[in-house]
Amino acid sequence: MSALNPYRPGLFISLEGIDGAGKSTQLQAVVDVLRAADREVVLTREPGGTEIGEKIRDLLLHQTMRPATEALLMFAARQEHVLQVIEPALLNGVDVVCDRFTAATLAYQGGGKGIPTERLDALARWVHPGLQPDVIVLIDVPPEVAAQRLAQTRQRDRFEQESVDFFVRVRANYLQQAAAAPGRWLVVDGTQTPDSVQKIITEHLSNTLQVVEAK
Ligand code: TMP
Repeated sequence: MSALNPYRPGLFISLEGIDGAGKSTQLQAVVDVLRAADREVVLTREPGGTEIGEKIRDLLLHQTMRPATEALLMFAARQEHVLQVIEPALLNGVDVVCDRFTAATLAYQGGGKGIPTERLDALARWVHPGLQPDVIVLIDVPPEVAAQRLAQTRQRDRFEQESVDFFVRVRANYLQQAAAAPGRWLVVDGTQTPDSVQKIITEHLSNTLQVVEAK
């Protein structure tokens, strides 16, 4: 049983950050720490993670739409993801490492696009009542740094094409969420080398596992 949430056995970990933060590089490291501790792990992503979710992802990343449509589609994809993948894994004692979760909707559609937090919170309560990650890793970089990294990307999706101002708001929202729940969030300075970022994340998760497995 997870010491962090005694009602279900698997650990739920999500990674967050603005586009260009270097999140993808760290996902496998998180999986590796858990597997090294003999834990079974599912690596998945949002939007996506199911057949329907991946179709919705394609729309979200490439089709122009209103912010409210965007928020609703994020939660539509999440509903399938939670019911088909996340909850069954956690209930079977399998850890879930998720490339983004609801914190991203609060940051991007809330902070970035101005959808009121209360509406997003209400959707979250509907779609995944009582479920939230045990650990949320935020790889934090200034938007200017992220923009330089993204400039190297050849084909940028709809979100990656947003302005620096947009990412300033997204980042501020992430940092607010982290400050409001410091026990759940690990904020890592993503301007360090990938190896240094990885070391910090690995140490934090190793400590978390010690707590969980001591129970
Ligand atoms: P990714 O590039 O990290 O896979 O994420 C896809 C994009 O979707 C990324 O730019 C962030 C955005 N996104 C939101 O705007 N809201 C959400 O709830 C999620 C999960 C992702």
